[in-house]
Amino acid sequence: MADLQNAGRLVAIYPGSFDPLTNGHLDIISRGSRLTDSLVVAVLSNTQKQPLFSVAERLEMIRETTAQMPNVAVDSFSGLLVDYAATRGANIVLRGIRAISDYETELQMALLNRRLWPETETVFLMAGEEFSFISSRMVKEIFKLGGDVSSFVPAIVAERLRAKFGSAE
Ligand code: PNS
Repeated sequence: MADLQNAGRLVAIYPGSFDPLTNGHLDIISRGSRLTDSLVVAVLSNTQKQPLFSVAERLEMIRETTAQMPNVAVDSFSGLLVDYAATRGANIVLRGIRAISDYETELQMALLNRRLWPETETVFLMAGEEFSFISSRMVKEIFKLGGDVSSFVPAIVAERLRAKFGSAE
């Protein structure tokens, strides 16, 4: 159940893999933080996907990038999103939609989450159109193939990619 401490406050969770954080994610965080009293960026930690960055590394990069946003917190979670949202006293789930291709999966997740916890509302935000083609998956692929990803990700992420894996060029 939503925490009474948060009564009347808009507390949202922005969940995702963030492997790694992109400028599109950052745009959603920035828009979401202006709409809510408190926004928790929550990194899923029990994924079956083979991540490029550990959860600790992803948290650090997101924390560093959002340090100037006072109402943004960064955390990790495992298990069901709705259970985690309830423990944080949040009943808004924030997700970004880029293109119509995102819609089907997002609709499914939103309706499942609502069935699991009827009090939750998923709110979709559109990232700026300049970010509509960016995805973490493509950033990883471009980097691995030697491409320049510096305009797709925050500076700290580009640095960490180079530090961890060497210059892809
Ligand atoms: O960045 P992603 O990979 O698109 O994020 C997907 C995420 C983390 C939002 C989703 O997989 C999730 O919420 N997982 C937690 C498990 C859960 O609650 N599943 C049921 C509802 S989809």
